[in-house]
Amino acid sequence: MKKNVAVIGVGAVGVEILKILEERDFPIANLRIFARAARKIEINGASYKVEAISDENFDNIDIALFAGTEGAKGASLQYAHKFIEKGAVVIDNGNDFRLKKNVPLIVPEVNKDKISTHKGLIANPNCTTIQAVTALGGIYKRSGLASFILTSFQAASGAGKKAAESLWNETTALVENNKNVCFERLDKKIDKAPEYFNSQIAFNVNPQIGSFLDSGFTGEEQKVVDESRKILGDDSIKISATCVRVPVFISHSEAIYFTTKKDADIVGLEKALNESAGVKYLKDSLCLPLDAEGTDEVFVSRLRQDPFCRNSFWLWCVADNLRKGAALNAVQIAENLTVQN
Ligand SMILES: NC(=O)c1ccc[n+]([C@@H]2O[C@H](COP(=O)([O-])OP(=O)(O)OC[C@H]3O[C@@H](n4cnc5c(N)ncnc54)[C@H](OP(=O)(O)O)[C@@H]3O)[C@@H](O)[C@H]2O)c1
Repeated sequence: MKKNVAVIGVGAVGVEILKILEERDFPIANLRIFARAARKIEINGASYKVEAISDENFDNIDIALFAGTEGAKGASLQYAHKFIEKGAVVIDNGNDFRLKKNVPLIVPEVNKDKISTHKGLIANPNCTTIQAVTALGGIYKRSGLASFILTSFQAASGAGKKAAESLWNETTALVENNKNVCFERLDKKIDKAPEYFNSQIAFNVNPQIGSFLDSGFTGEEQKVVDESRKILGDDSIKISATCVRVPVFISHSEAIYFTTKKDADIVGLEKALNESAGVKYLKDSLCLPLDAEGTDEVFVSRLRQDPFCRNSFWLWCVADNLRKGAALNAVQIAENLTVQN
């Protein structure tokens, strides 16, 4: 049955949601798009009308896909409950509700059975978590997980459109300044304050994503722990992460070291990966961020056994953070809603 759909936010994720709704021929009766400012936007040659969000305009919407940022000034805290009061089911991309008790946190390939428990609000996990849990979901099912340690290499677009633009602006300015110089003499430091991140991102990496917590971990690293446990429904898994911003535009990469609960071997884990929905296991090749950009899968490669530790393995995984890490996952949840109702 066709649905009245609203998309809130037309930044990096919101635009991707609109593209994916179109690509997947989502059954839309009426589409409304909201952001802070009203305007027309163009996506793949088609023009879309964006309305300024206000308290009055939420009637008659079945599914509201929120990508309007989080926190006090973001759209979700201000408007999600108003959409729900008017009868919509909200699928929220931000961090405001993910760990709330009555809010299912969903990666459809792993826990779509929890979608029907919603009370009007469903949360989309963080991009780093989504791809890790998709990659590990089949392995968890087959062999259990005692622990995993994740190091991420996260694209600038993971922090939104302005963040990605800052990588471009810093890079192009430095290239322009150094046009006639050979590389060893490059002046690689920008001569003004970083445009978006807390350090220069062009030609650099930064091991701080989110604020530091008392534990010494960052908010982004804690999300990986809390969200993965909630999605897998298993608080016994010991999880630890280091999240790093790298000068890549789109697609996050992750090196994951995991230990299974049951005895496991490469053959069995390869079988689990090959049978995992949403995963493309590359036995003999690599997947790099540029390869993953614009695709829907979580690519897994470099599965290997730790020779020193029993039942312990490494894998490398890459996914488009704007698609599977955000917009696609949200649209998949919405698709499940259309099937359930
Ligand atoms: N980027 C990723 O890879 C990623 C992955 C997973 C989850 N997320 C989450 O998805 C959400 C959107 O992220 P993004 O990367 O798309 O951000 P973005 O590029 O900064 O875009 C934000 C959009 O939200 C709109 N907005 C902001 N505050 C609003 C408000 N109070 N009311 C209505 N609209 C508002 C903005 O409107 P205007 O255009 O009018 O300013 C803009 O269109 C965030 O919560 C983020 O944490 C992002």
